[in-house]
Amino acid sequence: MSIVYQIVKSHRGITEIRSEQKKGTTFLLRLPSCALPGHLEWTQQHAVGIPTIDKQHLRCLSLLNSLHLVMMGEKSRKAASDILIDLQDHLVEHFKHEEVLFLQTQYPEREQHKQLHDAFLEKFVAMTCKIKDPTALPTLDEEELVRNWLREHILSADHKYATHLMQYGIV
Ligand SMILES: [Fe+2]
Ligand SMILES: [Fe+2]
Repeated sequence: MSIVYQIVKSHRGITEIRSEQKKGTTFLLRLPSCALPGHLEWTQQHAVGIPTIDKQHLRCLSLLNSLHLVMMGEKSRKAASDILIDLQDHLVEHFKHEEVLFLQTQYPEREQHKQLHDAFLEKFVAMTCKIKDPTALPTLDEEELVRNWLREHILSADHKYATHLMQYGIV
């Protein structure tokens, strides 16, 4: 096993071990298909065009990329819990910021949008609460779920409100 681990690590891959009582142990090996898989690049496509919000989204992506570096073994595991706490605090602040703007401008889809935030935060908090050991990490599936949700949310639900907020002079 240690030889396999070394080979995977030398290819900048990840090993994950899942043990379940009476079911046995599963070894997951993930190898990168490019230099840094999962790295979220900020592109113009992500910009909603409201600088305060774009700045907050950029911070989300940056924290997710830091977490990804920990997952890839590029950063100390000890950094993971600080990153997750920062990310959670930032998400709470950011969602609140959007929701206040929705109320101020009477955004018609504010309730549906808030429900998306609440459902995601519930999952995110459940994930971080489960990680009691400060050197423990989320699973690869959990990290992927968070990354995909945020990227999709910015590109779809958040882009939807941009024109409405801009009509009210929100910048
Ligand atoms: Fe957002
Ligand atoms: Fe949002």
